[in-house]
Amino acid sequence: MSVIELESVSKRYETGGEVVDALDCVDFAAARGEMVTVIGPSGSGKSTMLNMIGLLDTPTDGRVRLDRQDVTDCTADELTEQRRSTIGFVFQDFHLLPMLSATENVELPSMWDTSVDRRERAETLLRRVGLGDRLEHTPDELSGGQRQRVAIARSLINEPDILLADEPTGNLDQETGRTILEELTRLKTDEDVAIVSVTHDEQMLEYADRVVRIVDGVIE
Ligand SMILES: Nc1ncnc2c1ncn2[C@@H]1O[C@H](COP(=O)(O)OP(=O)(O)OP(=O)(O)O)[C@@H](O)[C@H]1O
Ligand SMILES: [Mg+2]
Repeated sequence: MSVIELESVSKRYETGGEVVDALDCVDFAAARGEMVTVIGPSGSGKSTMLNMIGLLDTPTDGRVRLDRQDVTDCTADELTEQRRSTIGFVFQDFHLLPMLSATENVELPSMWDTSVDRRERAETLLRRVGLGDRLEHTPDELSGGQRQRVAIARSLINEPDILLADEPTGNLDQETGRTILEELTRLKTDEDVAIVSVTHDEQMLEYADRVVRIVDGVIE
C-alpha cells in the first residue's frame, strides 16, 4: 500500500514570459519498506518531483496523496504540519547546525513536541546509526560519513513514514557512500519507512528496490 502517491502531477514554471514544464503528468507511488531511486539528467525535474513528494511545493495540476489522504488542497500551515509528522529529509550537504552537538542536531526537528523524551530518542537513534560514542561531538569534530549519519538520525526523530534524500551520497567518497547506503537499507526495514532518493550516483542503483527514470519532466 502506498504511503505517498502522485497522480498525473504536472508542474509548470512561468518566469519572464518563459514557460517550463518541469513535470508533465507524473504518476508515482512509494510504499513503506521500499527504497525507490529517481535518476535523470540535470534539469529533468528530479528536485521538482522530490519537492512535490515532500509537500514543499504544490502542483499546477494533478493530485498528491499522503497515506491515501488527498492533501493537494491543504493550506500551507496544514502542509507544514503534515510534513513535520510524516516526512524526514536528508540532504547532500547534511544541513547540520555547527554550534550544536550531534544529539542536539538530531533533537532539533522535534522541539515542538513536548510529549516525548526527545533527548532519549535522539540518543537511541544515534546509537542505532553507530554513533553512540559521538553524542556530544559537534559537526566539525565528525567525518563526512558520520555527519550524514547524524542527518539520517535527525530525519527519523519524528518517526516519519517517508524519508526523502536528495543526493545523500553526493558529498561522500565511494566507500563512505556505500556504508550510508547500507545504513539506509537497514533503516528502511527497521523503521518501516519508504525511502525516495534522487541521485547521479550509479552505485545507489544497486541498493534500490525500484529505479525510476525521468527525462524532461516525464517518467519513462
Ligand atoms: N522555481 C523555478 N522557477 C522556474 N523554473 C524552475 C524552477 N525550479 C526549477 N525550474 C526548471 O524546471 C526544470 C526542472 O528543474 P529541477 O530542479 O527539478 O531539475 P533536476 O532534475 O533536479 O536537475 P539537477 O540534477 O541539475 O538538480 C528545469 O528546467 C529548471 O530550470
Ligand atoms: Mg536537482
